[in-house]
Amino acid sequence: MNEFYHTGENKKQFVQKMFDDISGKYDFLNHLLSLGIDLYWRRVLVKRLNLKDGQDVLDVATGTGDVGFTILKHHDVKIIGLDYSYKMVCYAQKKAKSKNKSDKFKFVQGDGENLPFEDNSFNVLTISYGFRNIGHYEQAMVEFNRVLKPGGTCAILEFQEPHSKFFGKIYQFYFKYILPRIGAFFARSDAYRYLPESVQNFLNREEMIKLMESKGFTNAKVEDLTFGVTSIFTAKKINSKKN
Ligand SMILES: C[S@@+](CC[C@H](N)C(=O)[O-])C[C@H]1O[C@@H](n2cnc3c(N)ncnc32)[C@H](O)[C@@H]1O
Repeated sequence: MNEFYHTGENKKQFVQKMFDDISGKYDFLNHLLSLGIDLYWRRVLVKRLNLKDGQDVLDVATGTGDVGFTILKHHDVKIIGLDYSYKMVCYAQKKAKSKNKSDKFKFVQGDGENLPFEDNSFNVLTISYGFRNIGHYEQAMVEFNRVLKPGGTCAILEFQEPHSKFFGKIYQFYFKYILPRIGAFFARSDAYRYLPESVQNFLNREEMIKLMESKGFTNAKVEDLTFGVTSIFTAKKINSKKN
């Protein structure tokens, strides 16, 4: 039985408050609990974007901005980071200032399900470990499609269940028993119980591809990283005459 909500308005409110509460510890715990592998996963994501200098990028559920900062190490682009948690946005803004990136990386507090941008605004949209936390996946995917330019790239980095049975057992043990205990020691105790439960309740690879293709994307692909613990989903917005 589930302890948490995994869809709808209750989930949205819970997630927003949870990330507000853990914002100050988020980076530290991310790197500790993933043993630093999260940095590698975000680097691979950025490589798959095929960015060109001068392009416009929207990083939805930007959190403390790590995808954007990784992008800016390699590309001269303009990025907007949007997050539902006000405190995460404040934290990301401070990081941008301290890294001297405030001119290239701007932040907005907002909802990924209702994006405050015009149609066809961005060349690339990224969302890293955020999509699973969204209350209404279909609504968000429609919005991602709407704000991307025709031919634009949507790239989603997200946890998945690993393929290998042997590795899957180790992963389950770590995710269910170790991670929540370490997390509880440093931050809100339920946040790291929510994490494994949310992964279990999330869409699988086939469902993600189907969702992307049903909401105006084409050429949807999945690439598994680290035995399939994490996957990168990419797709292009269909070029239609309407756009
Ligand atoms: C696990 S963090 C990921 C942060 C960052 N992208 C990263 O890779 O570290 C998930 C983020 O999703 C945000 N989030 C959840 N639901 C959202 C929504 N509906 N709209 C925008 N952001 C949302 C949370 O506030 C949180 O900052």
